[in-house]
Amino acid sequence: MKVIIIGAGRIGASFGYLLQTGGHEIIGVKNKSKASAQRAVEKIGQGAALSRQELVEKLKVADLVMVTTPDDKISEIVDYINSCQVNRDSVFMHMSGLLPAEILYGKEKKEKKENKRGVFSLHPLLSVPDFETGLKTLPEANYVIEGSDQGLKVGHKICRDLNLSWSSIDPEKKPLYHAAAVLAANYLVTLIGCSYELLEEAGISDEKIKNSLLELSSGVLKNIKDKSPESVLTGPVARGDWETVALHLESIKKNNEDLVELYRVLGKYTTRLIGKKNIFKGGGIDGQDS
Ligand SMILES: NC(=O)c1ccc[n+]([C@@H]2O[C@H](COP(=O)([O-])OP(=O)(O)OC[C@H]3O[C@@H](n4cnc5c(N)ncnc54)[C@H](OP(=O)(O)O)[C@@H]3O)[C@@H](O)[C@H]2O)c1
Repeated sequence: MKVIIIGAGRIGASFGYLLQTGGHEIIGVKNKSKASAQRAVEKIGQGAALSRQELVEKLKVADLVMVTTPDDKISEIVDYINSCQVNRDSVFMHMSGLLPAEILYGKEKKEKKENKRGVFSLHPLLSVPDFETGLKTLPEANYVIEGSDQGLKVGHKICRDLNLSWSSIDPEKKPLYHAAAVLAANYLVTLIGCSYELLEEAGISDEKIKNSLLELSSGVLKNIKDKSPESVLTGPVARGDWETVALHLESIKKNNEDLVELYRVLGKYTTRLIGKKNIFKGGGIDGQDS
Protein backbone atom coordinates (compact mmCIF):
# COMPACT_ATOMS: atom_id res chain seq x y z
CA MET A 1 0.00 0.00 0.00
CA LYS A 2 1.09 3.58 -0.65
CA VAL A 3 1.06 5.37 2.69
CA ILE A 4 1.05 9.06 3.67
CA ILE A 5 1.82 9.94 7.28
CA ILE A 6 0.41 13.21 8.56
CA GLY A 7 2.04 13.74 11.95
CA ALA A 8 5.15 11.57 12.00
CA GLY A 9 6.09 12.14 15.64
CA ARG A 10 6.81 9.42 18.20
CA ILE A 11 4.05 7.05 17.10
CA GLY A 12 3.72 8.07 13.45
CA ALA A 13 7.41 7.70 12.63
CA SER A 14 7.92 4.43 14.51
CA PHE A 15 4.73 2.84 13.16
CA GLY A 16 5.66 4.17 9.71
CA TYR A 17 8.99 2.40 10.00
CA LEU A 18 7.20 -0.86 10.84
CA LEU A 19 4.89 -0.43 7.86
CA GLN A 20 7.86 0.17 5.60
CA THR A 21 9.68 -2.94 6.84
CA GLY A 22 6.39 -4.86 6.51
CA GLY A 23 6.33 -4.24 2.74
CA HIS A 24 4.29 -1.01 2.52
CA GLU A 25 5.57 2.10 0.80
CA ILE A 26 5.74 5.42 2.64
CA ILE A 27 5.24 7.96 -0.14
CA GLY A 28 5.19 11.11 1.98
CA VAL A 29 5.38 12.64 5.43
CA LYS A 30 3.65 15.88 6.45
CA ASN A 31 4.46 17.42 9.81
CA LYS A 32 3.87 20.89 11.15
CA SER A 33 7.42 21.85 10.20
CA LYS A 34 9.20 20.55 7.09
CA ALA A 35 12.44 20.09 9.03
CA SER A 36 10.67 17.75 11.44
CA ALA A 37 9.10 15.84 8.51
CA GLN A 38 12.57 15.50 6.97
CA ARG A 39 13.95 14.05 10.24
CA ALA A 40 11.05 11.57 10.30
CA VAL A 41 11.75 10.54 6.69
CA GLU A 42 15.37 9.83 7.63
CA LYS A 43 14.27 7.69 10.58
CA ILE A 44 11.69 5.80 8.54
CA GLY A 45 14.18 5.34 5.72
CA GLN A 46 11.66 6.08 2.98
CA GLY A 47 9.37 8.79 1.59
CA ALA A 48 9.68 12.54 1.19
CA ALA A 49 9.00 15.48 3.48
CA LEU A 50 5.93 17.15 1.96
CA SER A 51 4.88 20.76 1.68
CA ARG A 52 1.14 21.45 1.80
CA GLN A 53 0.98 21.53 -2.01
CA GLU A 54 2.91 18.27 -2.32
CA LEU A 55 0.56 16.67 0.21
CA VAL A 56 -2.41 17.64 -1.98
CA GLU A 57 -0.79 15.83 -4.93
CA LYS A 58 0.09 12.68 -2.94
CA LEU A 59 -3.45 12.44 -1.52
CA LYS A 60 -4.63 11.64 -5.05
CA VAL A 61 -2.63 8.40 -5.10
CA ALA A 62 -2.33 7.27 -1.46
CA ASP A 63 -4.00 4.00 -0.39
CA LEU A 64 -3.63 4.71 3.32
CA VAL A 65 -3.57 8.08 5.09
CA MET A 66 -2.30 7.89 8.67
CA VAL A 67 -3.30 10.88 10.81
CA THR A 68 -1.01 10.53 13.80
CA THR A 69 -0.94 14.12 14.99
CA PRO A 70 -1.95 14.91 18.60
CA ASP A 71 -5.62 13.96 19.13
CA ASP A 72 -6.88 17.54 19.19
CA LYS A 73 -5.52 18.19 15.69
CA ILE A 74 -7.06 15.19 13.91
CA SER A 75 -10.43 16.81 13.10
CA GLU A 76 -9.02 19.99 11.62
CA ILE A 77 -6.60 17.99 9.45
CA VAL A 78 -9.41 15.77 8.15
CA ASP A 79 -11.52 18.84 7.42
CA TYR A 80 -8.64 20.27 5.42
CA ILE A 81 -8.13 16.98 3.53
CA ASN A 82 -11.86 16.88 2.75
CA SER A 83 -11.42 20.12 0.84
CA CYS A 84 -8.80 18.43 -1.40
CA GLN A 85 -9.11 15.82 -4.10
CA VAL A 86 -8.38 12.45 -2.49
CA ASN A 87 -8.03 8.95 -3.97
CA ARG A 88 -11.62 7.65 -3.65
CA ASP A 89 -10.40 4.23 -2.47
CA SER A 90 -8.00 5.48 0.17
CA VAL A 91 -8.48 4.40 3.77
CA PHE A 92 -7.82 6.71 6.71
CA MET A 93 -6.47 5.63 10.09
CA HIS A 94 -5.52 7.20 13.40
CA MET A 95 -3.91 5.74 16.51
CA SER A 96 -5.75 7.53 19.30
CA GLY A 97 -6.95 5.39 22.19
CA LEU A 98 -9.67 7.88 23.01
CA LEU A 99 -11.27 9.08 19.79
CA PRO A 100 -13.51 6.96 17.54
CA ALA A 101 -12.43 6.16 13.98
CA GLU A 102 -15.47 8.01 12.65
CA ILE A 103 -13.73 11.30 13.48
CA LEU A 104 -11.84 10.55 10.25
CA TYR A 105 -14.96 11.34 8.20
CA GLY A 106 -14.66 15.01 9.13
CA LYS A 107 -16.90 17.59 10.72
CA GLU A 108 -19.94 17.22 8.49
CA LYS A 109 -22.30 14.57 9.87
CA LYS A 110 -23.89 13.92 6.46
CA GLU A 111 -20.45 13.10 5.16
CA LYS A 112 -20.56 9.94 7.24
CA LYS A 113 -23.50 8.37 5.41
CA GLU A 114 -22.49 9.46 1.94
CA ASN A 115 -18.80 8.94 2.33
CA LYS A 116 -17.53 5.57 1.22
CA ARG A 117 -14.11 6.20 2.73
CA GLY A 118 -12.84 3.35 4.89
CA VAL A 119 -11.71 4.45 8.35
CA PHE A 120 -10.20 2.68 11.32
CA SER A 121 -8.32 3.41 14.52
CA LEU A 122 -5.54 1.17 15.78
CA HIS A 123 -4.31 1.89 19.29
CA PRO A 124 -1.28 0.28 20.94
CA LEU A 125 -1.70 -0.01 24.70
CA LEU A 126 1.70 1.30 25.64
CA SER A 127 3.62 4.49 26.13
CA VAL A 128 6.05 5.49 23.36
CA PRO A 129 8.40 8.21 24.64
CA ASP A 130 10.60 8.24 21.49
CA PHE A 131 11.19 6.67 18.08
CA GLU A 132 13.76 4.09 19.24
CA THR A 133 11.52 2.80 22.04
CA GLY A 134 8.62 2.65 19.58
CA LEU A 135 10.61 0.40 17.24
CA LYS A 136 11.29 -2.02 20.10
CA THR A 137 7.90 -2.02 21.80
CA LEU A 138 5.29 -1.48 19.06
CA PRO A 139 5.73 -4.96 17.51
CA GLU A 140 5.02 -6.59 20.91
CA ALA A 141 2.18 -4.28 22.02
CA ASN A 142 -1.50 -5.18 22.37
CA TYR A 143 -3.66 -3.16 20.00
CA VAL A 144 -7.37 -2.38 19.91
CA ILE A 145 -9.06 -1.72 16.61
CA GLU A 146 -12.41 -0.36 15.46
CA GLY A 147 -13.75 1.25 12.32
CA SER A 148 -15.90 0.87 9.21
CA ASP A 149 -16.09 -2.46 7.33
CA GLN A 150 -13.82 -1.25 4.57
CA GLY A 151 -11.42 0.33 7.05
CA LEU A 152 -11.26 -2.81 9.16
CA LYS A 153 -10.34 -4.93 6.13
CA VAL A 154 -7.22 -2.79 5.71
CA GLY A 155 -6.60 -2.53 9.48
CA HIS A 156 -6.75 -6.30 9.92
CA LYS A 157 -4.45 -6.80 6.94
CA ILE A 158 -1.90 -4.44 8.51
CA CYS A 159 -2.13 -6.35 11.80
CA ARG A 160 -1.51 -9.61 9.95
CA ASP A 161 1.32 -8.14 7.82
CA LEU A 162 3.08 -6.85 10.95
CA ASN A 163 2.14 -9.86 13.08
CA LEU A 164 0.48 -7.66 15.71
CA SER A 165 -1.68 -8.83 18.59
CA TRP A 166 -5.06 -7.08 18.43
CA SER A 167 -8.66 -7.20 19.64
CA SER A 168 -11.79 -5.28 18.74
CA ILE A 169 -13.26 -2.49 20.84
CA ASP A 170 -16.65 -0.75 20.87
CA PRO A 171 -15.83 2.90 19.98
CA GLU A 172 -18.20 4.09 22.72
CA LYS A 173 -16.04 2.28 25.28
CA LYS A 174 -12.83 3.97 24.19
CA PRO A 175 -12.93 6.76 26.80
CA LEU A 176 -13.27 4.06 29.50
CA TYR A 177 -10.46 2.01 27.96
CA HIS A 178 -8.31 5.14 27.77
CA ALA A 179 -9.09 6.10 31.39
CA ALA A 180 -7.97 2.61 32.45
CA ALA A 181 -4.71 3.10 30.59
CA VAL A 182 -4.17 6.46 32.30
CA LEU A 183 -4.68 4.83 35.71
CA ALA A 184 -2.19 2.04 35.06
CA ALA A 185 0.46 4.09 33.27
CA ASN A 186 0.29 7.83 33.99
CA TYR A 187 -1.05 7.63 37.54
CA LEU A 188 1.43 4.89 38.36
CA VAL A 189 4.13 7.44 37.55
CA THR A 190 2.34 9.99 39.77
CA LEU A 191 2.24 7.49 42.62
CA ILE A 192 5.92 6.73 42.28
CA GLY A 193 6.61 10.48 42.22
CA CYS A 194 4.68 10.90 45.50
CA SER A 195 6.48 7.96 47.07
CA TYR A 196 9.73 9.63 45.98
CA GLU A 197 8.73 12.79 47.88
CA LEU A 198 8.06 10.87 51.09
CA LEU A 199 11.35 8.98 50.84
CA GLU A 200 13.20 12.29 50.36
CA GLU A 201 11.47 13.61 53.46
CA ALA A 202 12.52 10.44 55.28
CA GLY A 203 16.16 11.40 54.49
CA ILE A 204 16.93 8.74 51.87
CA SER A 205 19.45 9.83 49.23
CA ASP A 206 18.43 10.43 45.64
CA GLU A 207 20.46 7.55 44.27
CA LYS A 208 19.15 5.08 46.84
CA ILE A 209 15.58 6.21 46.15
CA LYS A 210 15.96 5.59 42.42
CA ASN A 211 17.37 2.08 42.90
CA SER A 212 15.08 0.96 45.68
CA LEU A 213 11.86 2.39 44.24
CA LEU A 214 12.55 0.80 40.87
CA GLU A 215 13.24 -2.55 42.59
CA LEU A 216 10.11 -2.28 44.69
CA SER A 217 7.73 -1.27 41.93
CA SER A 218 9.07 -3.55 39.23
CA GLY A 219 9.02 -6.45 41.72
CA VAL A 220 5.31 -5.87 42.32
CA LEU A 221 4.65 -5.68 38.58
CA LYS A 222 6.47 -8.96 38.07
CA ASN A 223 4.39 -10.59 40.85
CA ILE A 224 1.21 -9.45 39.17
CA LYS A 225 2.14 -10.86 35.76
CA ASP A 226 0.45 -14.25 36.10
CA LYS A 227 -1.81 -13.53 39.05
CA SER A 228 -4.77 -11.36 39.98
CA PRO A 229 -3.99 -7.97 41.60
CA GLU A 230 -5.78 -8.89 44.84
CA SER A 231 -3.81 -12.12 45.24
CA VAL A 232 -0.40 -10.40 45.30
CA LEU A 233 -1.31 -7.58 47.66
CA THR A 234 0.85 -7.36 50.79
CA GLY A 235 1.19 -4.59 53.37
CA PRO A 236 -0.87 -3.24 56.27
CA VAL A 237 -4.26 -3.05 54.53
CA ALA A 238 -3.98 -6.65 53.31
CA ARG A 239 -3.08 -7.68 56.88
CA GLY A 240 -5.79 -5.54 58.44
CA ASP A 241 -3.11 -3.76 60.47
CA TRP A 242 -4.96 -0.51 61.12
CA GLU A 243 -2.52 0.71 63.77
CA THR A 244 0.19 0.89 61.11
CA VAL A 245 -2.20 2.67 58.76
CA ALA A 246 -2.97 5.23 61.47
CA LEU A 247 0.75 5.82 62.07
CA HIS A 248 1.30 6.30 58.34
CA LEU A 249 -1.48 8.88 58.14
CA GLU A 250 -0.17 10.74 61.18
CA SER A 251 3.35 10.87 59.80
CA ILE A 252 2.28 11.90 56.29
CA LYS A 253 0.12 14.62 57.79
CA LYS A 254 3.11 15.94 59.74
CA ASN A 255 5.56 15.84 56.82
CA ASN A 256 3.58 16.28 53.63
CA GLU A 257 -0.06 17.06 54.33
CA ASP A 258 -0.83 17.27 50.61
CA LEU A 259 -0.48 13.51 50.31
CA VAL A 260 -2.84 12.53 53.15
CA GLU A 261 -5.87 12.48 50.87
CA LEU A 262 -4.06 10.40 48.27
CA TYR A 263 -3.06 7.80 50.86
CA ARG A 264 -6.62 7.65 52.17
CA VAL A 265 -8.27 7.34 48.78
CA LEU A 266 -5.89 4.58 47.72
CA GLY A 267 -6.43 2.88 51.07
CA LYS A 268 -10.16 2.92 50.38
CA TYR A 269 -9.73 1.30 46.97
CA THR A 270 -7.25 -1.20 48.38
CA THR A 271 -9.80 -2.39 50.96
CA ARG A 272 -12.33 -2.59 48.12
CA LEU A 273 -9.92 -4.65 46.02
CA ILE A 274 -9.52 -7.30 48.69
CA GLY A 275 -13.15 -7.19 49.85
CA LYS A 276 -12.41 -5.70 53.28
CA LYS A 277 -14.58 -3.17 55.10
CA ASN A 278 -13.73 0.39 54.08
CA ILE A 279 -12.14 1.84 57.19
CA PHE A 280 -11.08 4.97 55.30
CA LYS A 281 -14.59 6.35 54.89
CA GLY A 282 -15.72 9.61 56.45
CA GLY A 283 -12.32 11.28 56.08
CA GLY A 284 -10.44 9.21 58.64
CA ILE A 285 -9.82 5.60 59.58
CA ASP A 286 -12.59 3.80 61.46
CA GLY A 287 -15.01 6.28 59.97
CA GLN A 288 -13.80 9.07 62.30
CA ASP A 289 -12.99 12.47 60.87
CA SER A 290 -9.45 13.30 61.91
N1 LIG B 1 3.22 8.57 22.31
C1 LIG B 1 2.47 7.63 22.88
O1 LIG B 1 2.83 7.05 23.91
C2 LIG B 1 1.18 7.20 22.24
C3 LIG B 1 0.68 5.92 22.56
C4 LIG B 1 -0.48 5.47 21.94
C5 LIG B 1 -1.15 6.30 21.05
N2 LIG B 1 -0.69 7.56 20.78
C6 LIG B 1 -1.43 8.38 19.83
O2 LIG B 1 -0.62 8.62 18.69
C7 LIG B 1 -0.95 9.91 18.13
C8 LIG B 1 0.32 10.73 18.02
O3 LIG B 1 0.88 10.90 19.31
P1 LIG B 1 2.47 11.15 19.47
O4 LIG B 1 2.78 10.94 20.90
O5 LIG B 1 3.23 10.39 18.43
O6 LIG B 1 2.55 12.71 19.14
P2 LIG B 1 3.87 13.59 18.90
O7 LIG B 1 5.11 12.82 19.17
O8 LIG B 1 3.64 14.87 19.61
O9 LIG B 1 3.85 13.87 17.32
C9 LIG B 1 2.85 14.60 16.73
C10 LIG B 1 3.28 14.94 15.31
O10 LIG B 1 2.19 15.63 14.70
C11 LIG B 1 2.71 16.72 13.97
N3 LIG B 1 1.67 17.76 13.85
C12 LIG B 1 1.11 18.50 14.83
N4 LIG B 1 0.19 19.35 14.31
C13 LIG B 1 0.21 19.12 12.98
C14 LIG B 1 -0.50 19.69 11.88
N5 LIG B 1 -1.41 20.66 12.06
N6 LIG B 1 -0.24 19.22 10.62
C15 LIG B 1 0.68 18.24 10.42
N7 LIG B 1 1.38 17.65 11.43
C16 LIG B 1 1.14 18.10 12.67
C17 LIG B 1 3.92 17.19 14.74
O11 LIG B 1 4.76 17.90 13.84
P3 LIG B 1 6.09 18.69 14.34
O12 LIG B 1 7.07 17.61 14.67
O13 LIG B 1 6.48 19.52 13.17
O14 LIG B 1 5.65 19.49 15.55
C18 LIG B 1 4.50 15.86 15.22
O15 LIG B 1 5.39 15.32 14.28
C19 LIG B 1 -2.03 10.51 19.03
O16 LIG B 1 -3.29 10.21 18.50
C20 LIG B 1 -1.82 9.75 20.35
O17 LIG B 1 -3.02 9.68 21.13
C21 LIG B 1 0.47 8.03 21.34
